[in-house]
Amino acid sequence: MEILRTISEVKAAVRPRKRAGARVGLVPTMGYLHEGHLSLVRRARQETDLVVVSIFVNPLQFGPREDYDRYPRDLDRDAALLAPEGVDIVFAPSVEEMYPEPIRTFVEVTGLTEGLCGASRPGHFRGVTTVVTKLFNIVEPDVAYFGEKDFQQLQVVRRMVRDLNMNVEVVGVPTVREPDGLALSSRNVYLRGREREAARILYRAIQRAQELVAQGQRDARALVEDLTAFIAREPLARVDYVAVVDPETLAPVERIEGRVRLALAVYIGSTRLIDNAELAVDNPELEGAG
Ligand code: PAF
Repeated sequence: MEILRTISEVKAAVRPRKRAGARVGLVPTMGYLHEGHLSLVRRARQETDLVVVSIFVNPLQFGPREDYDRYPRDLDRDAALLAPEGVDIVFAPSVEEMYPEPIRTFVEVTGLTEGLCGASRPGHFRGVTTVVTKLFNIVEPDVAYFGEKDFQQLQVVRRMVRDLNMNVEVVGVPTVREPDGLALSSRNVYLRGREREAARILYRAIQRAQELVAQGQRDARALVEDLTAFIAREPLARVDYVAVVDPETLAPVERIEGRVRLALAVYIGSTRLIDNAELAVDNPELEGAG
């Protein structure tokens, strides 16, 4: 496994392999890897010939009051996790390598980015789509792997690729959870003492939503109200948003029909955690029949 720091080194390593017919897989990450990232890497290893993992904490996607400075970073630890997975190249550039001068060109997906996480993190998705475009241009992957845990990000990247005819297939990989349901996230390391226990509330809210839908709840607003009140019962939790949205447009839906997405963002203490799940009602037209 090679650890490369510069764009020119990555191009020099990938291009000849690609020209010789190798299918290139990219797993973009911000490091401090966990099993969720490793599930993306394993999928890439199964499906592609040359696996590139990028590790870059992208300043462009953090707001001025967000956790850019304290975001966990440990390249040695990450490399030790990636080597046994058969990764070919780790691309770990510096900020200066990625942004040698103030950036004047941005890639922005509109419509899908203003709500949900975009509402409380203005500019975040513009930062994500800009750096992902740069990574795509540097690595030229055939396939790129993103976690479903960041569902809005996944759909925004898919839309960008479609709108701009980028030559890359985007694969979404299911969320990996702790045994108690907490979605794996690099930010879970921020949770202190009782906060870790309190963080279970996100998955408990998802389970509650799935139960209520199974019992016949079809009114999205009533479901959101119920879940908001449910989460508020946890003293360390503060809801940022609870939403039921169309999985493609990410616009709020009124009725829970077909396949919709439940998305939540909840502060546990000062740590903002997100999670999401599909709410599926099969054959809505048959409901109430018989
Ligand atoms: O999901 C992440 O870790 C980041 O948003 C990504 C896709 C690597 C872009 O910086």
